[in-house]
Amino acid sequence: MSIMSKINDFMTRASKLVKGGGEVSLERQKKSGKMSARERLDALLDSDSFFETDLFVEHSAKDFGMEGKRLSGDGVVTGFGRIDDRSVAVFAQDFTVAGGSLGKAHASKITKIMDAAGEMRMPLVGISDSGGARIQEGVDSLCGYGDIFFRNTRLSGVVPQISVILGPCAGGAVYSPALTDFVFVVDKISNMFITGPQVIKSVIGEEISAEELGGAKTHSSITGNAHFFAKSEIEVFQQIRKLLSFLPSSCMSTPPVIENPEAPKDQLDLESVIPEERKAAYCVKQIIRRIVDGSDFLEVHEQFARNIVVGFGRLNGESVGIIANQPRVLAGVLDVNAADKAARFIRFCDAFNIPLLTLVDTPGYLPGIDQEHSGVIRHGAKLLYAYSEATVPKFTVVMRKAYGGAYVAMCSRHLGATLVFAWPTAEIAVMGSEGAANIIFRKEINESDDPEATRREMVKKYEEKFANPYTAASKGYVDQIIEPGKTREALIAALGLTKSQKEERATYRHGNIPL
Ligand code: HXC
Repeated sequence: MSIMSKINDFMTRASKLVKGGGEVSLERQKKSGKMSARERLDALLDSDSFFETDLFVEHSAKDFGMEGKRLSGDGVVTGFGRIDDRSVAVFAQDFTVAGGSLGKAHASKITKIMDAAGEMRMPLVGISDSGGARIQEGVDSLCGYGDIFFRNTRLSGVVPQISVILGPCAGGAVYSPALTDFVFVVDKISNMFITGPQVIKSVIGEEISAEELGGAKTHSSITGNAHFFAKSEIEVFQQIRKLLSFLPSSCMSTPPVIENPEAPKDQLDLESVIPEERKAAYCVKQIIRRIVDGSDFLEVHEQFARNIVVGFGRLNGESVGIIANQPRVLAGVLDVNAADKAARFIRFCDAFNIPLLTLVDTPGYLPGIDQEHSGVIRHGAKLLYAYSEATVPKFTVVMRKAYGGAYVAMCSRHLGATLVFAWPTAEIAVMGSEGAANIIFRKEINESDDPEATRREMVKKYEEKFANPYTAASKGYVDQIIEPGKTREALIAALGLTKSQKEERATYRHGNIPL
C-alpha cells in the first residue's frame, strides 16, 4: 500500500468511527431530545480544543454474538480539552453504540483518562448516557465499574471531578457520579436509580414513573444526589464552565483570580435587607449578592435543603465558598439535610484551597421526633467535623441569631474560625430570649401578680444581656463588630491578611468523619 493509500485508509477508518453507532442511531438519539456524545463535548469545551484518545480501541468479548462485532470507540469518547483555556480530562458515553453500555475496553478508556487527570492535575468531567454494565461481557463489566469507583475515590480531593447525567444511569453505575464532587442533571433527560420502576413494581409492588423515581427534579430537590439542575443540555454545559471558573485545576493550585473585579451590582444598604422585626424572615441571597464581586453567586444544591445556602462567589477577584443560613426557609434551622449539604461543600472547599465565608442567622437545630430518628446527632456532627477539620481561611459573620449548638456549629471561634465578625444586630445566646426567660425566670413569672408583665420584663432582661454581640465580643469570641455596610470591605481586608496562612496538622492516616 502506498503512503497515500495508507493515509486514505486511516481517514476512512477514523471517519467511520467518529460516526458512533451510525446515522440511524444518531437520528434516534436526536429524536429523544439528546445531543450526541461529540456534540456534547463540542458544547462543553473551548472551540477546536478536543484532543481525542483511544478512538481505535476495540473490545475482545466473544460471548453472545460479540465476536467480530465492531463497536465504535467501544461506546465512549475520551480525551482532553480546554475550558476557558485551562486543561480538563473528559469522557462522554455514546448511547448510539450498544446503548453506551460499559464493557472492559470502555472502562479501560475511562480509567486511562482518569489516571491522566490525576497525573497531570486537571479536572475530570464525565458525561453518563448508558444502559449500564454491558450484559454480554458479564463480570468484566463489573470489574470495569470497580476500577472506575476506585479511581473516583483516589482522585477525590486531588482534582475536581464533575459528572453530567445526560440519559440513563442505572444500577451500580450511579456510584461513579455519586463519588464525584458535583453532579449535574438536565430536566426530562437525566435518570438515575439503583433499581428502575419495573423492578420496583415486581419486587415490592410500588408504582412510579422513571421521571418521578430518578429524574432531574427528584435528584435536585428530594434526594440531593444532584447539585445542579439545568433546563437543557446547552444550559448544563454553561453551568459547568461557570463552576470550573471558581475552582483550581487541582489541590496543588489555587483558583484563577479575576483581574479588575466588579463591585456588587446590588448596592442597596445591607441594613435594608434585614427586617426591623427580629423574627421576620428575609432572603440571605440578597445579602450574599451585596457582598460578592459583581453580585455573582453560583449556588450549589439550590433546590435541596433550602434552609441553608451554599455556593461560590468572589471577593476582590478571589474565589470563596459561602455557607449561609436561609431565614426564609424554616427560619434557617439546621437539620439533617442542611448539615450534610454544608459539610460536603466545606470539605470540597477545604480540599481545593478555597477560603470559607459563613453567614450566620439560625435559631438552632430543628427539634422533633423525625429529626432525632433520622439521626440529627450523627448528621449534625458532620458539620462540626467539617468546619473543625478545614485548614483554609475561615471567616464568619454573625448577622442576627446564633443560638445554642448552632452558634458553635456555624464556624464559631471555637471550631477554628480565622476571624469572626458580628453585626450590631447579632444575638449570640444559648437560646432565644423568650424561651430562655420562660425557663430561668419561671418561678418569678408564676408567682407574679401580673405574670404576663413579669414575663415581658424578664425577656427584656435576658435580651439586654445576651441578644447582642457585646457579651461574646467582651470575651474575645467575636473579633470585630462591624456595620453591615462595611462587611465586604472587612472581608476583603481579612482575606488579604490570611495570604500567608498555613496550618500544619499532624500527619496520620485519616480522621473518621461521622457518616
Ligand atoms: C448491552 C445494551 C445495554 C446493556 C442497552 N443496550 N443497554 N447492550 N448491555 N446494559 C443496547 C440495546 O440492546 C440496544 O441495542 C441499544 O443499546 C439501545 O437500547 P434500547 O433498549 O433500544 O434503548 P431504550 O429503549 O432507549 O432503553 C434504554 C434502557 C434499556 C432503558 C437503558 O436499554 C435498558 O433497560 N437496558 C438495560 C439496563 C440494565 O439492566 N443494565 C444493567 C444494569 S446492572 P441495539 O443493538 O438493539 O441497538 C449494572 C450493574 C453495574 O449496571 C454494577 C456496578 C457495580
